[in-house]
Amino acid sequence: MYVVSVINYKGGVGKTTVTANLGAELANRGMKVLLIDLDPQTSLTFSFYDPDDWRERLRDARTVKRWYDSLRGDDGPVTLGDLVVSPGPANAHITGTGRLDLIASHLGLIDIDLALARGVANGEEYDAELFRVRGALARALHEHVLDPYDMVLIDCPPNFNVVTQSAIIASDHLVIPARADYLSTLGIDYLYGNVQELVERYNADARRFATVRRHHKVAPGIAGVVFTMIQLMAQRPIAAHHGFMDQTRALGLPVFPTALRENVSLYASNTPRGVPVVLRNRLTVPAVRDELRQLTTEFLENLQPERAAA
Ligand SMILES: Nc1ncnc2c1ncn2[C@@H]1O[C@H](COP(=O)(O)OP(=O)(O)OP(=O)(O)O)[C@@H](O)[C@H]1O
Ligand SMILES: [Mg+2]
Repeated sequence: MYVVSVINYKGGVGKTTVTANLGAELANRGMKVLLIDLDPQTSLTFSFYDPDDWRERLRDARTVKRWYDSLRGDDGPVTLGDLVVSPGPANAHITGTGRLDLIASHLGLIDIDLALARGVANGEEYDAELFRVRGALARALHEHVLDPYDMVLIDCPPNFNVVTQSAIIASDHLVIPARADYLSTLGIDYLYGNVQELVERYNADARRFATVRRHHKVAPGIAGVVFTMIQLMAQRPIAAHHGFMDQTRALGLPVFPTALRENVSLYASNTPRGVPVVLRNRLTVPAVRDELRQLTTEFLENLQPERAAA
């Protein structure tokens, strides 16, 4: 099983859109995919479920908030497997043996984050608790009931708090969506530095606090930066965008050759409801679907096979 987080603490860069479409296309190619929405804004959840449906069927019993609650002992034992749902309309568009499942989010996740960060004393006890919380998602994803999944894709919120950190620690790979502008490209370098710092700290803490003797060393790799909302001229990114894409490559980070073009009307409309763009067969701009498919191929090529067995 691969675990991949889609991250960038810059907001509105296409994280949720990339997560939904990558997941949908992988499922359409026969993979069993689990999406996890870790963003209290719940955009990924609402791209698959109607808000009324979410309120009636998911809000109280089946969101990732319950699992984070259980980490603090606020709720009885909850496993991730208890929370999985299968969005109907998206799965109706998936042919063959693939499947697209979801662990939904909840607006209350924002309070969890604050509580997790605040709920422990300072000093040694605080460090040990932070280590436990940061590693909790990684441990939980090893539940046997999740074994059938080939791929877990985690949609992260636009921040670097402890919930996001737990996703990074659980991941084999990271995908970084970005817009081709000055602030986004500046942010990628900074984000990468913070990821490295977190991972080093976590592995050092493992030597101090881990209760198992041979602790698995965490080392998420960057699968790639994907540029989104690109403007095209004669089928190529406009010069301004090209410049920022080249600057990012110069940082030494992998950048997916395929960038996603801007198409506000296609991406903004969730019609038919709950079906990601890549699965919509009657698309007015087939090139949009083609580039999402091509990105998926490039994504699979960039995953390290040896990590999958770890
Ligand atoms: N290629 C695109 N062209 C046009 N609009 C897009 C494209 N990709 C995403 N969008 C739109 O841009 C907005 C932000 O996208 P999205 O929600 O995927 O970003 P995000 O990084 O997850 O945001 P947040 O940080 O708030 O979670 C959404 O309204 C989405 O529909
Ligand atoms: Mg989002």
